[in-house]
Amino acid sequence: QNASKITIAIDGYSSCGKSTLAKALAQKMNYTFIDSGAMYRCVALFGIRNGCVLGAHKLNLSCVVSSLPQINIQFGEADEKGNRAVLLNQEDVSDEIRQLEVANIVSEVAAIEEVRSFLVKQQQELGSKGGVVMDGRDIGTVVFPNAQLKLFVTAKPEIRAQRRFLELQAKGETNSMEEILQNLKHRDRIDSTRAISPLTQAKDAQVLDNSEMSELEQLEFVLNLVKNKTTI
Ligand code: DC
Repeated sequence: QNASKITIAIDGYSSCGKSTLAKALAQKMNYTFIDSGAMYRCVALFGIRNGCVLGAHKLNLSCVVSSLPQINIQFGEADEKGNRAVLLNQEDVSDEIRQLEVANIVSEVAAIEEVRSFLVKQQQELGSKGGVVMDGRDIGTVVFPNAQLKLFVTAKPEIRAQRRFLELQAKGETNSMEEILQNLKHRDRIDSTRAISPLTQAKDAQVLDNSEMSELEQLEFVLNLVKNKTTI
């Protein structure tokens, strides 16, 4: 392990720009970026494809749990923008896992204890050498409780919905703003009230409300924090 390379945990609600920030940070620092939410989304997609979804927000739990041994998740190399392809059993599902169909069931999937232990173990292995920026909901609390830098990112709900709307629109999706806002609120509720590792702010996390901040301002803010952590 390279002693000067730290672990950075970024947690917060959906669509707060955590991944964008994590990606930019990893690129700037030459660290590995890991989007842990993409891993939950892969399990959700696998469940959808295999008939484990019974209806709106309704899952066949044992179907999901028994499918776990068949699921292999990998990340490709970062491209020039820092994006990494998400591979589910060798298939590139980077775009498919962002669709609302997946978003609508992923919180329920992420509330399953067996799913969490399956993915947390893999996340810990991926970050075992340090030099990692990982974003999610439980990174600073469960996955890397000893991370040297922990951020808790928040933004106003309308701003988050607007960001997700533009993101989906750019990908050619035609979801309404109302549909997106409802999905965000639903996921906020499930993610922060579930029994196992709910979204909570780690005691030693630094709060970053980025409602009024540009991506560059956020990056500079965090790079400053990193500087303080790495200079003795
Ligand atoms: O960050 P995201 O929106 O892509 O995450 C998708 C879902 O996965 C989200 O509803 C909550 C869940 N999640 C989680 O429970 N723990 C994580 N570390 C990351 C995501």
